[in-house]
Amino acid sequence: MAKVLVVYDSKTGNTEKMAFAVAEGAKQVGGVEVVVKKVDQTSLEDLVDADGIIMGSPTYFGQMSAKLKALIDNSVEIHGKLEGKVGAAFTSSGGTATGAETTLLSILQTMLAHGMVVYGRADDKHYGVAAVENPDEEALEYCCELGKRTASLVIKLKSH
Ligand SMILES: Cc1cc2nc3c(=O)[nH]c(=O)nc-3n(C[C@H](O)[C@H](O)[C@H](O)COP(=O)(O)O)c2cc1C
Repeated sequence: MAKVLVVYDSKTGNTEKMAFAVAEGAKQVGGVEVVVKKVDQTSLEDLVDADGIIMGSPTYFGQMSAKLKALIDNSVEIHGKLEGKVGAAFTSSGGTATGAETTLLSILQTMLAHGMVVYGRADDKHYGVAAVENPDEEALEYCCELGKRTASLVIKLKSH
């Protein structure tokens, strides 16, 4: 079984709802085991064990939260061990054009520095999924699709 880890931070529950929708999508792909964890319950071993890592954070001043950044900063200890894993990102922000994309990119940038494979999307939502506050049905559908396409790429890469 391939493993997909959905790790998220969320203070008021918006990003958490997105995390569950991302996980639902990933579970639709055969041969994939999905684990959802809050960032403060996530260990470096969890990251190493996963074949795909999807990270979610609220938008805080246009960047990921300090809790998610702390996990990523600690991951310097496992630098090199995430190479080739598939990564993706999602965020909930307070508005539009108020830092959601920069938050997604701040997460994806760290994934690239780990040598991870980041799967962009040509038709809208290029960098991942962003919701405004409480995710609506459309945002949750995009989350589900993000989980599914990330898990599908994990399976493709594992079979080669
Ligand atoms: C410290 C802090 C900083 C924030 N900075 C931004 C920001 O730069 N841009 C924005 O759109 N929303 C900002 N917000 C709003 C949150 O991103 C938004 O409420 C989000 O839905 C919270 O997600 P959560 O329910 O998962 O905690 C900020 C909120 C807090 C608490």
